[in-house]
Amino acid sequence: MEAFATKVASLAQKLAGILAEKLGHKSSFFQESCLPSTCYLRLNRYPPCPIPLGIYGIMPHTDSDFITILHQDQVGGLRLAKDGKWVSVKPNPDAFFINIGDLFQAWSNGFYTSVEHCVVTHPTKERLSAAYFLCPSNETVIESCSKPSVYTKFSFREYRQKVQEDVRLYGYKVGLPRFLP
Ligand code: OGA
Ligand code: NI
Repeated sequence: MEAFATKVASLAQKLAGILAEKLGHKSSFFQESCLPSTCYLRLNRYPPCPIPLGIYGIMPHTDSDFITILHQDQVGGLRLAKDGKWVSVKPNPDAFFINIGDLFQAWSNGFYTSVEHCVVTHPTKERLSAAYFLCPSNETVIESCSKPSVYTKFSFREYRQKVQEDVRLYGYKVGLPRFLP
């Protein structure tokens, strides 16, 4: 796991750098604010679920980070929202699934958008995945790299608190729309 985390950490940094460069920013921001101690690896296990109703293993959501690198096994079940429809992602254990998260959307001023995704359970097979989240420290202020900015600036701590508060109050994450002026 440590070897995996080290590899995907440098991949995430590289990708963030490339995406920033596409916007005309040679940014050291990600290297300075996303440290090994602030990023994390989540191991997901989805037990089989025989109810044939497309039960969520993980509810529809966008990731609250800059970039997610996901490795999944061959079972499948990952879906992403595209043009108002759920699209199944073909499982490929030899590939990574790269997700833009909310923070990259805010930083890029909406140029890159975080993708809504979910996992539906398999009736008979257990599914495993590993997701690496490129996250800054709680104190890091997320501010758009261009002006005028779509979102008001916020610290990662404020963002996480808002997400938790919304989930507690409403049962779902509102996310970036909370930071529209
Ligand atoms: C997540 C996630 C998808 C998966 O952990 O945020 O979306 O395939 N995981 O496990
Ligand atoms: Ni996710």
